[in-house]
Amino acid sequence: MYENIERIKSPSREVFINEYLLKQKPVIITDLFEGQPISQISSLEVARKQLGEMPVIVQEGHEEYFVRMLRGLLTSDFSFVDIGKEKSTVNGYLAMVEKDPNTRLVCAEVPRSMIDKVEASYSIPDYCKPDAGELDEYTSMLWLGNVGNYTHLHYDADYKNIFQYQLWGAKRVVLVSPSESRKLLPLRNNSASSPEGLKGEDNDAFVRYVNGYQAVVRTGETLFMPAMMWHYFEYLDTSMALTMRFRRNKYVRFMSENLHIDYHLQGIVFKFINERAIGAEHLKAYAELEAAFDKPFDNPSEKGKYMQDTYERIYSWFCKDYFQGDLARPFLREIKDAIRNVDILAGQLYSGERRAA
Ligand SMILES: [Fe+2]
Repeated sequence: MYENIERIKSPSREVFINEYLLKQKPVIITDLFEGQPISQISSLEVARKQLGEMPVIVQEGHEEYFVRMLRGLLTSDFSFVDIGKEKSTVNGYLAMVEKDPNTRLVCAEVPRSMIDKVEASYSIPDYCKPDAGELDEYTSMLWLGNVGNYTHLHYDADYKNIFQYQLWGAKRVVLVSPSESRKLLPLRNNSASSPEGLKGEDNDAFVRYVNGYQAVVRTGETLFMPAMMWHYFEYLDTSMALTMRFRRNKYVRFMSENLHIDYHLQGIVFKFINERAIGAEHLKAYAELEAAFDKPFDNPSEKGKYMQDTYERIYSWFCKDYFQGDLARPFLREIKDAIRNVDILAGQLYSGERRAA
């Protein structure tokens, strides 16, 4: 398998920030929690004993959400319900997997507040801590999935940097830069194409085509995923991971909290992650976005259309170094516009309130 993500021992905070976070370069840290109690939870058997009764949320994958939303759009029935979420425990989920090994259900996005036992077993890495005067937006979540499960290509809507620590088990990961988004047929923060099911040479050819990163992340290793990057996971074992989400600058926070999701904006935001590199072109792009956002509209959906046009105009001059071909057929635009309108309504965007950045 073609693998191209560097592995390193924990570097100093300064080296991590300068060489990886600000350069937006994925890396695997091999010893992040060495010597800490979390590193002892390194197998399914230990997890059963130590975390067996810990509560988790079991849910359908986001694919199901998309299916329901699109069905709602096609039938103009907007009463579709969010994906099913149920409370269980680690042992409850594992027992369910034993009965139904092919289940697509995963324990996903289990919040900090529910996972005290895991939270008490590690200290937040210095890399995640804010600089002086910066907001501390650290948060974490737990994931537990069965062998064979996968997470389709998507990027995260909070626009934060992410560490994913594998407590135990292996996962294949593919990461793709926002500069390649057009090769993935983006719909919202999901892609209409996915490498799921590709094997061997076919898979590696896909990763090379999208100039992606690929690795198998194993027990005790921590993957750094730069903010905004597309990510795809395949569970090679039944495995558990902790994601640590951290650090956004004021520009990124404003764009995450106030603007609708779209790959053009993803590409724009990607250029703002390195605050030290922000120059005149960045400020021009940001001023255009703010001005468009501050323009009053009676109808949030009309404003969404106006914002979309603004994104695309900015993208055309600000993201010239990105892949420029557009593989999406024009008819996909209809679906994208409809999805944007649902998002705006569901997220109550563009209704006059400006959330502080
Ligand atoms: Fe994600």
